[in-house]
Amino acid sequence: MNATAAVAAAVVPAAGRGERLGPGAPKALRELGGVPLLVHAVRALARSRAVGLVVVAAPADGVAEVVGLLDSHGLDGKDVRVVAGGATRQESVRLGLAAIPADVEIVLVHDAARPLVPVEVVDAVAAAVRAGAEAVVPAVPLADTVKRVEPNRGGPEPVLDTPDRATLRAVQTPQGFRRETLAEVHEKALTEEAAGGLPPVTDDAGLVERFGGRVVVVPGHEEAFKVTRPLDLVLAEAVLARRRASDGY
Ligand code: CTP
Ligand code: MG
Repeated sequence: MNATAAVAAAVVPAAGRGERLGPGAPKALRELGGVPLLVHAVRALARSRAVGLVVVAAPADGVAEVVGLLDSHGLDGKDVRVVAGGATRQESVRLGLAAIPADVEIVLVHDAARPLVPVEVVDAVAAAVRAGAEAVVPAVPLADTVKRVEPNRGGPEPVLDTPDRATLRAVQTPQGFRRETLAEVHEKALTEEAAGGLPPVTDDAGLVERFGGRVVVVPGHEEAFKVTRPLDLVLAEAVLARRRASDGY
């Protein structure tokens, strides 16, 4: 491996609207402690010595704005690039991946909407790929019992069954991949979609699974939660305030 190959690149899908968060700016640009979520997420990756390059997939109409934002927040001298994202998360990741130099062998994919992921999780995911896994996801056990239902929004929903909670994990990001594996499954998914096949997935490891690859889980962290609904922002503000008070974060 040459020097470039040993260091991972990260793709940050940041092109979503954030509909579940409610009206306002695109979610990645919404602020947490006065700093956009996206900047927190890029900083969290840049803090890892395993990451040498970060490619952000920005809202297609917000590329210049995102470049400006990243420029105005110091990012530890890391190489940060911005590309236009797509209509789905999957497409945004594919477009980001296309901007990564060909000799990079390890790629992490991290949601802009997970601003507080601890660097230990980033390091652990990258290390597991370096150690030989083709796809790695950080995850945590579930607090709630989960039931499968026949969806019937707003009305009573018949329960189908209750999976054994001990076997379930809530998955987070960054997810880590051998670059070759990730590029291959995204290409296959694109071909399949064009043929009217399966819908896009909500995580990249899901694509690896779909095409028969092997995915492993490593421990995630409760602070790597995704900011999805308004209450998540309240929690994120509290976590950030605690970090700033206790360790000058
Ligand atoms: N994402 C993206 N491109 C899209 C859709 C989503 O890059 N077309 C990104 C989001 O910006 C986010 C991550 O994928 O960082 C996870 O998606 P999610 O939490 O669903 O964010 P949004 O799609 O923005 O939110 P919502 O589904 O509530 O609209
Ligand atoms: Mg979404």
